[in-house]
Amino acid sequence: MAGLHLIEHPLIQHKISLLRDKNTGVKEFRELTSETAMLICYEATRDLPLKEVEIATPVAVAKTKVISGRKLAFVPILRAGLGMIDGVTNMVPAAKIGHIGMFSDDEHNIVKYYSKLPEDIAERDVIIVDPMLATGSSAIYAIDEIKKAGVKNIKFMCIVAAPEGIKNVLDKHPDIDIYCGVQDQGLDENKYIVPGMGDAGDRIFGTK
Ligand code: URA
Repeated sequence: MAGLHLIEHPLIQHKISLLRDKNTGVKEFRELTSETAMLICYEATRDLPLKEVEIATPVAVAKTKVISGRKLAFVPILRAGLGMIDGVTNMVPAAKIGHIGMFSDDEHNIVKYYSKLPEDIAERDVIIVDPMLATGSSAIYAIDEIKKAGVKNIKFMCIVAAPEGIKNVLDKHPDIDIYCGVQDQGLDENKYIVPGMGDAGDRIFGTK
């Protein structure tokens, strides 16, 4: 059923604690973002359909299973979403990758500056990735764009989410599944998640 999926696995919770620590440096933050994304992706892909095949092992023919049906694409929201791409493509190496870039102007309106999606995106299931789900505006915008491109099955993956962002996304797009490591208290006056982990883009790319 569509809605919020909190992935409370101990490895994910441990890595999120390290990500939160303001003393965690760029190299470690980048590695932890990727590893956490990989673990959340494991859950977000739990419902991928399988088909039975026969494979010859060195000993005998095994009736075994492979992923079948529709293919996947990941779409990172620029720029912080890029930090999750290594992790998720470790799990699904054949997935295609689209990019959507946007920023919030001074009035908190979303301004798109880049969009490049795989040509065959309408034939794929899509998982949008962004480490922080804050107000939900970027997520809603990205989901709108991807729906306009003809995609039927969209999931959203993040590491930390604010209740406001979860509510806004699910109010606007009740058909979406959100996969998330932890739900925090809420947003501060600058729309940062509290306690959160700061500006994920700056911490992944070392820009501050
Ligand atoms: N984006 C971030 O990187 N951090 C926040 O806390 C909110 C949005």
